Amino acid sequence: MTIATRPGSSGPAGAAVPAVAAGRVAGRHAPWDEAEARAIIAGFDGVPGAMLPILHALQEAFGCVPEAAKPLIAQALNLSRAEVHGVVTFYHDYRAEPAGRHVLKLCRAEACQSVGGTALHRDVLAKLGLEWGGTTPDGRLTVEAVYCLGLCATAPAALLDGTPLGRLDAARLDGVVAEAMAT
Ligand code: FES
Repeated sequence: MTIATRPGSSGPAGAAVPAVAAGRVAGRHAPWDEAEARAIIAGFDGVPGAMLPILHALQEAFGCVPEAAKPLIAQALNLSRAEVHGVVTFYHDYRAEPAGRHVLKLCRAEACQSVGGTALHRDVLAKLGLEWGGTTPDGRLTVEAVYCLGLCATAPAALLDGTPLGRLDAARLDGVVAEAMAT
């Protein structure tokens, strides 16, 4: 696996990320559409174990699993809404709201903590004005926690839009964030 170090993206140590631009970035996903959701769900008619594939397909289409989709899924799978809700909330990858254009997943597990990850994370969240799971007001960046990416040898580690990043320090993480916020 290649661990990206993003040469040229690192800013000076302690550099602040760019100010959030005015205006929200256009979303990558379609707005909620009940007819489309029903069609997606119907596509799994008769498929054993359809719940997770349906949730995945809905999130692919809408960027999240909208609350309004839960009764449709429940009806199609002959389950209660509570059962559907329980599955959606059990898996952290299913979102209630669409993520930002870019998703930065910072590893909070032990190996990354032991080499300064906690302070690194605290600083980047403070600079962005976000809590874990939050999205910048312009919709460009969502910052999420993960617990071990299998990149412990290159801790502190992260994923940006699925690309692994290792040996992060403040300057490199600022650079990664600045790059994501610029696109
Ligand atoms: S603990 Fe962070 S990648 Fe394993």
